[in-house]
Amino acid sequence: MAQNRTFTMIKPDATADGHTGAIIKLIEEAGFRIVALKKTLLTKELAGKFYAVHAERPFYNDLCAYMSSGPIVPIILEKDNAVADFRKLIGATNPANAEEGTIRKLFAKSMEANAIHGSDSDENAEIESNFFFAQTEQY
Ligand code: CMP
Repeated sequence: MAQNRTFTMIKPDATADGHTGAIIKLIEEAGFRIVALKKTLLTKELAGKFYAVHAERPFYNDLCAYMSSGPIVPIILEKDNAVADFRKLIGATNPANAEEGTIRKLFAKSMEANAIHGSDSDENAEIESNFFFAQTEQY
C-alpha cells in the first residue's frame, strides 16, 4: 500500500485529563509519522463547520458545544494504509464497543467524549487536514 495520510484530533476530554502525550506515544509506536501538530481551541461555530456533515443529526448541537469546551490537538499523520489502520488503532466510536488496547478503549469516557477523532476516508482526511493546517505547515 502506498504511503498516505489521515487526520486526527485529540478531543477536549483527553487533553483535559492529561492524556495527550500517552495518545501520541501510542500513535507513533503504531508506525505513524507526524506531518503536522498543534494545540488549539475551536469556537462553537468552527466546531459546527468541522462537523457540518452531522448537522442534521440529533447529537450535533451537543457535539459542537463539547468540541469547543476545551483545547484540542489536531494532527496530520502519514503511514501506508493510514485511514484504515488509524481507525483500527482508535477503535469503535462508542467506547463500549471498542476493542481492548485501542485508544478509545483506553481513554474514551462516552460516545461523545470519545478521546479522539479519525478521518473516515482519504478525501475527508485531506479536507479535515486543510481545515486546520496550511500547506506550508504540513511537513
Ligand atoms: P467522531 O469520530 O469525531 O465523529 C463524530 C462524533 O460525534 C463522534 O466521533 C462522537 O464523538 C460524536 N457522537 C455523539 N453521538 C454520536 C452518535 N450517536 N453517533 C455517532 N457519533 C456520535
